[in-house]
Amino acid sequence: MVLRSESGPGPIGATSLAALLGDWRGSDRGGLARSLAERIRLLALDGRIPSGTRLPSERELCDRLGLSRTTVASAYARLRELGFARSLRGSGTQVRLPVPRLHEPVPGGHEIDLSRATLPALPWLAETAREAAEDLPSWLHTDGYDPIGLPEVRAALARRYAERGLPTDPEQILVTLGAQHAIALLARTLLGRGDRAVIESPTYPHAFEALRLAGARLVPVPVGGAADADATETGEVEAFEQAFRRASPAAAFLMPDFQNPTGRSLSLEARERILSAARREGTVVVADETTAELDIDRGFVAPPLAAQGNAVLIGSAGKTLWGGLRVGWIRADRELIARLAQARTVGDLGTPILEQLLLARLLPRTAEALELRRGQLRAGRELLTGLLAERVPGWRVPPTPGGIATWVDLGAPLSSRLALAARSRGLVVPAGPRFGIDGAYEGRLRLPLCGDPDELRAAVGILAESWDDLPGVEALARPDARAGII
Ligand SMILES: Cc1ncc(COP(=O)(O)O)c(C=O)c1O
Repeated sequence: MVLRSESGPGPIGATSLAALLGDWRGSDRGGLARSLAERIRLLALDGRIPSGTRLPSERELCDRLGLSRTTVASAYARLRELGFARSLRGSGTQVRLPVPRLHEPVPGGHEIDLSRATLPALPWLAETAREAAEDLPSWLHTDGYDPIGLPEVRAALARRYAERGLPTDPEQILVTLGAQHAIALLARTLLGRGDRAVIESPTYPHAFEALRLAGARLVPVPVGGAADADATETGEVEAFEQAFRRASPAAAFLMPDFQNPTGRSLSLEARERILSAARREGTVVVADETTAELDIDRGFVAPPLAAQGNAVLIGSAGKTLWGGLRVGWIRADRELIARLAQARTVGDLGTPILEQLLLARLLPRTAEALELRRGQLRAGRELLTGLLAERVPGWRVPPTPGGIATWVDLGAPLSSRLALAARSRGLVVPAGPRFGIDGAYEGRLRLPLCGDPDELRAAVGILAESWDDLPGVEALARPDARAGII
């Protein structure tokens, strides 16, 4: 739950804060006040409580949590000491991040960051960038940026869709500053304040943040839950159908392939059913296909969702080619593309031409890039799975046939405690609830399949040490005691 209003984050009520805090007690040998402060600190660090949010009064929170006033007062005092809160003039306490960064730096040390699942640039990127720079002189007399996309880039992206089974006119493409920009632009164009938007849960957190910021009321549909994939899919499709029927949402945001974070993919039949349920309600389906082509060994290649029915597609060069390009795109009908181009100028004025020229030169080698990514992700998956099996054998890594991350089952609802313990050892890893819109997923941890192997080794070492040190974990290893903590 992320709280915002148009003029910045508003106050958070005691009930909402209690929901975000989840099961925070007993996590810490340092006492209740410290546990409470630490959990609020985690929520601030991972963005679930935006900087600037006013916390409930001490009295409200102690009533809601059944604590003494002294405990809440000393938790707030500790947050202030750590630089994560400040007293407001008059009364009240406001959350703030001590530095203008997402994460605290580790004093004197090197921080490992698993909060982003990113891949290194393609080996041929630098050389291709030099070639693209040679194309630049003929553009130097122009502004150097444009709000829709260069004709050759739109044409190349349209060709790529056609190769994947979806005939596309270049006029159906709008080039953006990455997929995140595309999500935010679509959210504020398609949604009005109070409109309902269906969203998978768990999901990519910056997506639901963008929908919320646009004023949408979110309707979560649980996805990727159980080990039995077929049973899960039937339940999931029915949940989508019910959500469409009950909420008549203006839009639905989903990831049909290698969903982030769960890694699940929908069968073609499931996609048909979801699209027809959306059509019946007049819901615009937005499919984020940022990682859709990152197949490792799924065994089927899905066409873009719009090949099966009406859907707006989001794509990105971010994972296949390089995140540093900051180029993505939207495929939609011409009318929506025109609306998006118009709406765009409030947030930005266009995509730089040099990056687009580079993209135009990289796109013809997409198949080669995907082959390389397949190898990298496979190697990352094998390394991660092996390390986890060795160091934390009680965790379950679900089958992950593609995508950039895996959704590890910890076997106990300790994800926030683990994330805090790991952070104090120099590892930034988002706790499971970061991916839910309602504070669930304490039993899960999203870990990336990509990244530097040495960093991954060090990260798993920190996770294992932090895990073994958590109160109650020792008991989990005893088969008869496992039920106690869950
Ligand atoms: C599902 C999903 N959508 C969008 C994005 C943002 O992509 P970009 O870097 O193109 O903005 C990411 C990045 O991790 C992602 O995983």
